[in-house]
Amino acid sequence: MEHNELRSLLENGLKAESSGNKKEAVSMYKKGLKILNDELQTDNMIVRERVQRQMKSIQTAIDRLAKNEKQDNDGENNGVKILEELGLVLENGSGPAMDEVAGMARVKEEMYTQIIYPLKFPDLAMEFNIKFGGGILLYGPPGNGKTFLIKALAREAKMNFIYVNPSSLYSQWFGNFEKNINNLFRAARMLSPCILFFDELDSLFPSRDQVNSDASRRGVSQFLNEIGGFSSESNERPVVILGATNVPWQLDAAVTRPGRFDRMIYIPPPDHEARKLILEHYLSKIRRAEKVDVDNLARKTEGYSAADLEYICKYTTQRAFLRAVEGNKEEKINEESLNLALKEIKPSVNQAVLEKYERFEKQRA
Ligand SMILES: Nc1ncnc2c1ncn2[C@@H]1O[C@H](COP(=O)(O)OP(=O)(O)OP(=O)(O)O)[C@@H](O)[C@H]1O
Ligand SMILES: [Mg+2]
Repeated sequence: MEHNELRSLLENGLKAESSGNKKEAVSMYKKGLKILNDELQTDNMIVRERVQRQMKSIQTAIDRLAKNEKQDNDGENNGVKILEELGLVLENGSGPAMDEVAGMARVKEEMYTQIIYPLKFPDLAMEFNIKFGGGILLYGPPGNGKTFLIKALAREAKMNFIYVNPSSLYSQWFGNFEKNINNLFRAARMLSPCILFFDELDSLFPSRDQVNSDASRRGVSQFLNEIGGFSSESNERPVVILGATNVPWQLDAAVTRPGRFDRMIYIPPPDHEARKLILEHYLSKIRRAEKVDVDNLARKTEGYSAADLEYICKYTTQRAFLRAVEGNKEEKINEESLNLALKEIKPSVNQAVLEKYERFEKQRA
């Protein structure tokens, strides 16, 4: 009876260990030790010696797991140190809440099923054969929430999140580009499970035919090697790689091959429903806003980006605030003042450019 229990404890411990659940494994092994300890209370020397041998081997397994755990934790510290040397820090979850990102329902769902849930529930992901590897690239015209969404994701995921913003990095990295990329990926592995996000990917990894700097060209190659390496790794130390760009056609073609950024998601300007949500969202923050027919406003703002819509609300508010300061105490935000702002503020991206994105999306499909 006891032996069946012991056997199943040890088997489950092994299973837990092989799926990376060290705590669970240790707990199983310790329960096993307890059963064996009870068996030690016997006068039969042969049995006692056998039990002692078994206990010793289980204890060795527990010690080994504890040592691994310690190394992993040190790995985490080392990972943070490497990041600091690269001028990067772990995101601390100060981004917007997911609810503040208006619209984008489909993209959000994809982020959850492909990233957050598999990282949070690795065992379930394994049972459904959900694999990591490769990366997800968001592309689309400026100001429609690529960066905003990923920052919300970083907050929601509540796990290590490395935000690589090339504008602050590139010059610093110049000359050491390859080595730094290698170190960045090393740090990501140490900090796993983690999300590694390359914002403005195009400026880090432009098409190799179009750049004349050797360093930059070698940087792209190094990046391709590193990201390729992940797809063949197991789920043991998962690193999810994300990117964003508003000039997808300027990326090196190799960057989007299978095993690299092989999932590309187009983030278009908001449609009618999304524009309504965005306008409602930003107007709801202003106590001085009267009830506005957002449906009508959404109809008039086709082609405007999310950031443009935010700016329309902000601009109208600032105007009204000024007038209030100047003495008009009853000043309110209403349809009339919003319509006035609309006349002055034009969409930041013109139709011809939007069509370029649409053509790019079609070509990929
Ligand atoms: N879906 C949205 N809901 C609410 N606000 C949004 C949304 N999308 C964008 N915004 C607002 O617009 C700002 C600019 O968006 P963001 O920086 O994410 O654009 P982007 O797509 O990354 O552009 P770029 O290609 O220039 O990097 C955000 O900081 C946010 O205030
Ligand atoms: Mg951005």
